[in-house]
Amino acid sequence: MLKAPFFDPAKTYAENWQEGPFNDFADGVTLTADEEPRFTFLGQELSYPLGIPAGPLLNGSFVKAALDKGFNVPVHKTVRSRVRESNEWPNVLAADIPADLTLEMAQNPIIVRNEYKEPLSITNSFGNPSFEPSVWQKDLRECVAHAKKGQLVMCSFEGTKWDGLTSEEYVRDWADGMQLLKDAGVKVVEANFSCPNEGAAQLLCFDVPKVKVVAEAIKNKIGDTPLVIKIAYFGEAELRELVKEVGGIVDGFSAINTIPAPVVNPDGSQALPGAHRVKSGICGHAVKWAGVDMVRRLKSLREEFNLSYGIIGCGGVTVPQDFKEYRDAGADVVMTATGAMWNGYLAKEIKEAYPNA
Ligand SMILES: Cc1cc2nc3c(=O)[nH]c(=O)nc-3n(C[C@H](O)[C@H](O)[C@H](O)COP(=O)(O)O)c2cc1C
Repeated sequence: MLKAPFFDPAKTYAENWQEGPFNDFADGVTLTADEEPRFTFLGQELSYPLGIPAGPLLNGSFVKAALDKGFNVPVHKTVRSRVRESNEWPNVLAADIPADLTLEMAQNPIIVRNEYKEPLSITNSFGNPSFEPSVWQKDLRECVAHAKKGQLVMCSFEGTKWDGLTSEEYVRDWADGMQLLKDAGVKVVEANFSCPNEGAAQLLCFDVPKVKVVAEAIKNKIGDTPLVIKIAYFGEAELRELVKEVGGIVDGFSAINTIPAPVVNPDGSQALPGAHRVKSGICGHAVKWAGVDMVRRLKSLREEFNLSYGIIGCGGVTVPQDFKEYRDAGADVVMTATGAMWNGYLAKEIKEAYPNA
């Protein structure tokens, strides 16, 4: 049975930011203590390779709650170098998908509604809102200090386009933003190259030459701080090209982000308000096949090209067996967003089921 979520879809982004987290993440129970690290990931020691990807952890209160509940690698939701408002409410709705969301199915409308049930899939649409850097940098410093031995706080960043921006300024925005994360004490940074809610045709991760330019600029700026890039689902040839071109520049890949699809109300009308929100990213159970498939291919390409990048696997981890599936496929770290939102004790359940990960 589904529990009540730590992010409340009935409330706006601002209300969740101010009042959250809720339910399991607000029960005051701390499950973690300093633990002897048994794993390393990109040079950082971890006591267990499990986290929450960029998204549901809106600010420091959410990240600290995730750390306390044993999600050892929480990623702060994507931030920007400047203020950006959230997309209008609703931002999260349940998606009616009984099995896997294939890429063909994602061409056709998916019915979404305010009725959450298992197997749980949802759509989310925020548009990567952000406060100014001083707000999230303060949060990040506190979160880094809150983390216990064997835990790692990450943060995701996305470059912003504005009127009159040159291509050089856009690249600089990415590099300077990543430096701001590093300045706040974040030891592993993530670049969100795959936000589907800015228009799927423009996903940065599919533009390999651009990814290379931006990744190189970031690495030139932040030196040996590890850089993970968050990517969408890729076809065979496209992923091979990406890994060939940037697998030796970046330090890790996080896959996958959501799969975009048109989302409609049960009566067929557009579900989310706004011309740019006809399509919205789908996550949860229905996309697990795609995340596991990407992890498997990232692992075999790493061997083929003799590279050493880290692999974060996410998408559809809602029960402990899903964690195992990702580990068996080759994920160095496994993350869960939708699953954790509706079960704040999922980390505990996974650790009990697989003490050795
Ligand atoms: C509420 C919510 C907000 C999200 N926001 C972001 C984000 O800011 N940046 C990002 O890279 N991915 C974001 N995502 C995508 C997740 O990081 C993840 O890639 C995706 O949800 C698949 O994992 P899941 O099936 O466990 O939810 C978000 C997901 C959810 C559920």
